[in-house]
Amino acid sequence: MTTPVPPVIEAVAIDGPASSGKSTLAREVAKRLGYAFVDTGSLYRAVALALDRAGAGDLSESDPRFIGALAACSVAIEPTPSGVRVDLSGEDVTPLLRDERLGRIASRVSAFPSVRKALFALQRTLAAAGRIVMDGRDIGTVILPEARLKIFLVADPEVRAKRRLLDLERNGQQASLEIVLADILQRDERDRSRKIAPLVPAFDALVLDTSHMTVSEAVDWIVDRYR
Ligand code: DC
Repeated sequence: MTTPVPPVIEAVAIDGPASSGKSTLAREVAKRLGYAFVDTGSLYRAVALALDRAGAGDLSESDPRFIGALAACSVAIEPTPSGVRVDLSGEDVTPLLRDERLGRIASRVSAFPSVRKALFALQRTLAAAGRIVMDGRDIGTVILPEARLKIFLVADPEVRAKRRLLDLERNGQQASLEIVLADILQRDERDRSRKIAPLVPAFDALVLDTSHMTVSEAVDWIVDRYR
């Protein structure tokens, strides 16, 4: 008896913890390969925004107001060369999504099976079409296990906190390194320990530590392995 070989999809799956450089690298790798790029964190952030606007961002998954707000929210995305444009019920919410508070709500509600289920089909349809670089937490394990290359990024928490602080400052937001580091560690713990689709490397993922790498070194490393 032979074990069936799963089909391979021409795609790169990039997973990793908060601020490990996933989206920066995924965008550049996609450019080099001429593929689409989808940052799936932005989809969870869009749902977080919808829930927050409905006053349901801190409710439990079984609360009728949460259930109603989730059912009412419709997320759509349009891949563009610079990333995805995310629409929430027809409104382009892309510029609103990088907010720290939304990231925290997204991290909390992404542990709910109903939220993950709501975003599954959209991600899977994009993934199955191939010629795509997707980044997130469960791309190699759940969304795109057939990707020809799966990368799991890691980086020292202090390095990630410094990167996040720089990003925030570029966006005109103020924060201290201690607070950003504490937030990253809390988010890592929550993303890793949730019961559904936790942040873990796929069994066949290549682990890349970007702590001491430049963006272009890491992009070269990934593209070389893909080719
Ligand atoms: O990558 P990010 O920080 O934009 O993601 C925000 C949150 O969304 C993250 O803390 C966990 C969740 N997320 C997820 O659970 N699965 C994904 N594929 C992407 C993001």
